[in-house]
Amino acid sequence: MIDKASRRLRAFYRTHLRYRLWRLRNWRRPYSDYYVDVVMGKLNAGLQHPAIGSDVVAHSTPMEMFDFLAPLGLRRDHCVVDYGCGSLRLGRPFIEYLDAGKYWGYEVTPEFLRIGRDKLPAGLLEAKRPNLRVIDERTLAEGRAANPDFIACWKVVSKVPEHLLDEFFRNLTGLLRPGGRILLEFSESDHRVKVSPMSWANPRALLLDHLERAMPGLEIRIHRLSGGAPPVIQKSVMEIALGAERPGKAAGSERALAEVDA
Ligand SMILES: C[S@@+](CC[C@H](N)C(=O)[O-])C[C@H]1O[C@@H](n2cnc3c(N)ncnc32)[C@H](O)[C@@H]1O
Repeated sequence: MIDKASRRLRAFYRTHLRYRLWRLRNWRRPYSDYYVDVVMGKLNAGLQHPAIGSDVVAHSTPMEMFDFLAPLGLRRDHCVVDYGCGSLRLGRPFIEYLDAGKYWGYEVTPEFLRIGRDKLPAGLLEAKRPNLRVIDERTLAEGRAANPDFIACWKVVSKVPEHLLDEFFRNLTGLLRPGGRILLEFSESDHRVKVSPMSWANPRALLLDHLERAMPGLEIRIHRLSGGAPPVIQKSVMEIALGAERPGKAAGSERALAEVDA
């Protein structure tokens, strides 16, 4: 009985109070610091996180992102950006597979990157020289100059509050170059819904609107990874390329959207 009440109290604190109290103490810091503080607090207390840390309790396999990209024509000499790579849970198979210097991992904090780097065997780090970067204007320009073939973003947009989605999509689409593709995994619902204290499922229309504002006229296909009809939350992936690449389609013209089964 007491256990149940204290679980409820903790859930209420995490959902309704924790961010407000953090904001009062950290009114000048960005939201991403809140995410990092909560995750690092958990790890430092010896608890596990589903994606970040040296010992994760993930619900999905570390091959999930690699297995999605491989059939799209991924090659060893391709350049891959892992945007919101965390501590390289899904990045490691790419680091192992790609040629040296072809993997770029981007994060909001050096702390997650450090955990990821420390987990890699020294031989692998030296042989493959992954580029690990904290997101800012300078590092984004560096990544763009590397001409990424794939920009993969897995389990990240679900962590972005709505008022930061425009900035998120500006940064993400800014990495796109002719011939390149963004693969954006997202939890899909019929309206924006909070699925945990720091995670949201999004309707595709909302994400498409933000994408259109960030870069008009993109070519977009949506892959459904899991079935089920609304209101069940589904796993989907948007495949995004520069619109002008479709023959006969000018950049800035109406959005091209198709749905395919993954
Ligand atoms: C659930 S973790 C997923 C990490 C990794 N992609 C994976 O699947 O293992 C979400 C990650 O998104 C990052 N993130 C949150 N907001 C972000 C933003 N606005 N831009 C880029 N990354 C962000 C977090 O720092 C965190 O590492």
